[in-house]
Amino acid sequence: MFFSEKMLDHFEHPRNVGSMDEADLSVGTATITATQCGDVTKLQLRISDDGRIVDTRFKTFGCGAAIASGSLATEWLKGKTVEEALAITNAHIAQELELPPAKVHCSVMTEEAVRDAVNDWKKKNGKL
Ligand code: FES
Repeated sequence: MFFSEKMLDHFEHPRNVGSMDEADLSVGTATITATQCGDVTKLQLRISDDGRIVDTRFKTFGCGAAIASGSLATEWLKGKTVEEALAITNAHIAQELELPPAKVHCSVMTEEAVRDAVNDWKKKNGKL
């Protein structure tokens, strides 16, 4: 299976790995399980009061494509508004990393995690 240099770079040197305090009201947290394989990704966003993402973390119990997808997304998300974050799709991630078709579902998990983390932050802050 072919993997791009960018995908391998994010896999071998993942950015923003770790976690933040889930109880912090400024932190939105999502834990997503991929239905196809059972792999799990946890993604967290620290969001300012005016809705801008100021920090990101992720961890995954998943494959290399899941690691690379989380790493890329957490880089992209920093500095974006929540609306801009929700516009990031798995297709953007899969295209940037040149994921092979069998690995596209790994980027879907990341897209879902971004959406759920934003919604968690909104719920915690009365914005839903
Ligand atoms: S094979 Fe499960 S997330 Fe990639």
